[in-house]
Amino acid sequence: MIIAVDGPTASGKGTIAKALAAHYGLPHLDTGLLYRAVGRQVALNGGNPDDAGDALAACGFADALLDDPILRDEATGGLASRVSIHPAVRKSLFERQRAFATQPGGAVLDGRDIATVIAPDADAKLFVTASVDARADRRWKEMQASGGVASRESIAADLAARDERDRNRAAAPLEQAPGAVLLDTSNLNREEAIAAAILIVEAALRRG
Ligand code: DC
Repeated sequence: MIIAVDGPTASGKGTIAKALAAHYGLPHLDTGLLYRAVGRQVALNGGNPDDAGDALAACGFADALLDDPILRDEATGGLASRVSIHPAVRKSLFERQRAFATQPGGAVLDGRDIATVIAPDADAKLFVTASVDARADRRWKEMQASGGVASRESIAADLAARDERDRNRAAAPLEQAPGAVLLDTSNLNREEAIAAAILIVEAALRRG
């Protein structure tokens, strides 16, 4: 069983994907981490994330980089969004994601193009979204909890810029795949969002 979870930053897709993986006993891949590792590696190389050659060269990052907490930073998220527009980068990361999706027993993957490109054959597809306001609020609260100093306005502006880039790029833009079910988490807490996601997967499995 393959479960595809797509959506913008801070929509709740990561939390939902992890919870679905635990619920169904499946392995989970946060594909954003791969793009974040490429973005971070470009910076370590002193390269330019907007240059396709520099970005492609960074796709050979060492797996240990995936465990570096710096990948979770907003700044690395921005770099990830910039390197992810290059088709050569997406192509380079494809096989690893596809192999994870098709492993025996199944998997849960979350990202931007899981249901559209990586696993259009997924058994259940969720498109998780939330208003910019709700997402900025979540990020701001997370930041405050971890001692961050960014203003709510600057967080909202960063989110909007990242959404704009992710939705409007030519290669595998963020979009709701045919057959994907929309889950708006703007007014849901964590438990409600997870319960709603499980209901969507159950319905998709019944439909076969
Ligand atoms: O989900 P995230 O915030 O960790 O993703 C970081 C960036 O990586 C996101 O802005 C766009 C890119 N990305 C992508 O293009 N395709 C994916 N499947 C996952 C992430």
